[in-house]
Amino acid sequence: MSQTIKKAITNNEKALYVNRMFAEIAHKYDLLNNLMTLGLHSKWKEEAIDLVLKEIDCPKLALDLCSGTGDLAVSLNSKIPQIKITCVDNCPEMLEIAKNKTKNLKIKNIDFLEADCENLPFYSWSFDIVTVGFGLRNLVNKEKCLKNVFDFLKPGGVFACVDLAYPVNSLWQRLYFFYFYNFVPKLGELFAKNKEAYTYLPVSLKTWYRQEELKKLILQTGFKKCYFKNLLGGVIAIHVAVK
Ligand SMILES: C[S@@+](CC[C@H](N)C(=O)[O-])C[C@H]1O[C@@H](n2cnc3c(N)ncnc32)[C@H](O)[C@@H]1O
Repeated sequence: MSQTIKKAITNNEKALYVNRMFAEIAHKYDLLNNLMTLGLHSKWKEEAIDLVLKEIDCPKLALDLCSGTGDLAVSLNSKIPQIKITCVDNCPEMLEIAKNKTKNLKIKNIDFLEADCENLPFYSWSFDIVTVGFGLRNLVNKEKCLKNVFDFLKPGGVFACVDLAYPVNSLWQRLYFFYFYNFVPKLGELFAKNKEAYTYLPVSLKTWYRQEELKKLILQTGFKKCYFKNLLGGVIAIHVAVK
């Protein structure tokens, strides 16, 4: 078998694995996020939206990729209720929770699309804002997704990516990694009855970009400006880029 075919199978398998994993944990996803981060994940997402809104006036259309249970969309709507948001995710179980959440919050102007974020059906220059929270890391072809994001954004449009990152201080990094690699899988086993998914989470960090690398990649995609903000000493980073 050629290397290309082998790689295609491996990538396909990875995408299927990730999809199945999110389907299994969807009903416990918000609970586990709250437990693992002591509720801080909501603040991080709010902060990402605040940073985006500092870069753009009167945005009308937004796209939230890998939207999961819809937290970034909810946060964006809370700041700009009239903005129209399209949430995309390839896991129907996650989208179902997002739909119920936004319905309970009586959020209007929101659409949900079940689709693969590596093959999206949008025109160039369609959106003022594109966000992705804890999603890019899970994609097989992150570079392709970034190129699409750049294409879908209008000139002057803003992209934000919130995701796991690498703590800057080495002592803090060791403490955090001890928690992340030892306790997070246990929390997953206990509360989501799924140790595997919460073992995948810390493992996925091993192949993820460092903060500076992601910034470089975003700039290479064509964005004219990109910066990142470390949260909790680099446990999380928010990258913001302007087209
Ligand atoms: C860790 S969750 C993040 C959810 C949400 N953005 C948040 O910040 O809480 C990652 C989400 O990405 C979705 N996802 C993974 N690969 C995807 C793909 N190729 N296309 C679309 N969605 C994908 C998963 O189904 C899951 O809902």
